[in-house]
Amino acid sequence: MYMADKRRYDTMGYKRVGRSGLKLPYVSLGLWHNFGSQFPHDTAREMVLGAFDMGITHFDLANNYGPVPGSAETTFGRILKEDLAAWRDELIISTKSGYLMWEGPYGEWGSRKQMLASLDQSLKRMGLEYVDIFYAHRPDPDTPLEETMGALEQAVRQGKALYVGISNYGPERAAQAIDMLKGMGIHCLIHQPRYNILDRRPEGGLYEVLAEKGVGAIPFSPLAQGLLTNRYLGGIPADSRAAGKSVFLNPEQIDQATLDKITRLNQIAQARGQTLAQMAISWLHRDPVTASVIIGASKLSQIRDCVKAQEAPPFDERELKAIDEAAAV
Ligand SMILES: NC(=O)c1ccc[n+]([C@@H]2O[C@H](COP(=O)([O-])OP(=O)(O)OC[C@H]3O[C@@H](n4cnc5c(N)ncnc54)[C@H](OP(=O)(O)O)[C@@H]3O)[C@@H](O)[C@H]2O)c1
Repeated sequence: MYMADKRRYDTMGYKRVGRSGLKLPYVSLGLWHNFGSQFPHDTAREMVLGAFDMGITHFDLANNYGPVPGSAETTFGRILKEDLAAWRDELIISTKSGYLMWEGPYGEWGSRKQMLASLDQSLKRMGLEYVDIFYAHRPDPDTPLEETMGALEQAVRQGKALYVGISNYGPERAAQAIDMLKGMGIHCLIHQPRYNILDRRPEGGLYEVLAEKGVGAIPFSPLAQGLLTNRYLGGIPADSRAAGKSVFLNPEQIDQATLDKITRLNQIAQARGQTLAQMAISWLHRDPVTASVIIGASKLSQIRDCVKAQEAPPFDERELKAIDEAAAV
């Protein structure tokens, strides 16, 4: 039987999410890859429980995480029921709706029908009465923003979500969504953008919007799916995401130009006394808008490595410039 480590809160740092009462751990764990029904349950369980023992209180899911879609939530629901039930109030569990989940016109995007039916499915799969954060997973160009934000508001009013967030929204749409929710009496807690040393899109106005409106950011893919680690420095390991069945990272993306960047970045990390993964995480936290980062993992040792990022010294101007130059090559 699992017993949570008594020292789980001794070393993890917690940051306030924008202008809210909620704090999130320096590192959060996402269940996009490696937690579906095609992955061994024992390894998934070991990572979730091991993460919680390190003070990782936040677990990020979505309706469609698998494969098969939905099965990461089923895996997490089983771990909750069999191991973590006694600690529900120490957990921040998020889910999302917006990408393709089921057939027909209501299985994706941002209609009220889609959003609320999907949330009910997620709650059932995880065996929960409520999630802590419910996200609109992506902007829907064809559904009025009022309808998608209205569905988030309703999820809160129904007690099915404590907080709401948006993901993959550009700066202008994000500002509109945040203001609209405010008009409905709901504070948008958090925005989940893709942001890492190699993908700087949130620097094009999004972070300024979030800072101004008191909304926290929680970057996803902070390690560029494993590129910003030591994983691919010596070739493509057989058990890596790039070598596996994921359609999101493939060997063609690990070309010489990318390897050159990673090698230079790794040298900067070494000079700072960090692994590349740790430096990539510390770098995102250099901006106070970043409340947490959502890493993925295939083994517990990777999570252990990432969590140590918080021990790093702050960056100096010379290091930040060197990182920008290496990433731009
Ligand atoms: N909102 C959205 O649209 C959206 C989209 C994508 C992701 N997300 C969220 O973000 C989470 C993280 O995404 P991600 O998995 O792409 O994140 P990531 O942290 O950029 O990449 C994770 C991968 O990096 C490798 N890795 C992790 N730590 C390592 C370490 N210390 N040393 C060496 N390699 C390490 C592992 O690769 P191997 O598997 O090869 O071992 C791991 O699977 C997802 O689970 C999900 O919750 C959200």
